[in-house]
Amino acid sequence: MPGRAAPVRIRRATVRDLGVLRRHRDAMFRDMGRGSPRSLAAADRAYAVWARRLLRTGDLVGFLAVLRDGTVVAGGCVWLREHQPHPVLAGGRVPYLLSMYTEPAHRGRGLATKIVRAATRWARARGFPRFFLHASEKGRGVYEKLGWSRTWEMETKL
Ligand SMILES: CC(C)(COP(=O)(O)OP(=O)(O)OC[C@H]1O[C@@H](n2cnc3c(N)ncnc32)[C@H](O)[C@@H]1OP(=O)(O)O)[C@@H](O)C(=O)NCCC(=O)NCCS
Repeated sequence: MPGRAAPVRIRRATVRDLGVLRRHRDAMFRDMGRGSPRSLAAADRAYAVWARRLLRTGDLVGFLAVLRDGTVVAGGCVWLREHQPHPVLAGGRVPYLLSMYTEPAHRGRGLATKIVRAATRWARARGFPRFFLHASEKGRGVYEKLGWSRTWEMETKL
């Protein structure tokens, strides 16, 4: 059993990591209290199809925190999604951070912070001017410490 201070490295995910990416995403929603058992199962199946396709095209890029023995203990993904033409943002694809999850035994030691930093370096190196996400309550502090700020996106139920 690795201790809390076990060293980790960050590596990129491949399609072979789909199992852990699915497990982490499902656990993230459960931790956030979102969805019913039925809707979580349906979302998981749909995500598997969607993520496999996008990992293959490079429109989904995963970052994993991995122990020395190869165990994945945290992760997050960048989705390149389409943005409308806009005076501040020219349009085209923009990076969006999703599925941030750290396994409970490994929380509070900077793993999510490392993943956000790696994803940010990745996005910056590709010339993207902005980076987006929707934060859970637990995630907010991590992003704010890294300089992210709230925006005014709104929604209504139809
Ligand atoms: C949100 C979540 C991903 C954070 O994961 P984490 O690996 O524990 O995050 P970090 O360790 O980087 O940061 C957590 C806290 O530890 C602190 N911390 C401790 N050691 C640290 C270190 N060495 N470096 C950076 N931060 C450290 C951070 O400052 C942060 O403090 P805060 O609670 O005041 O914000 C995790 O709690 C989780 O999976 N939650 C459930 C799912 C979820 O809400 N996901 C986010 C969706 S947006």
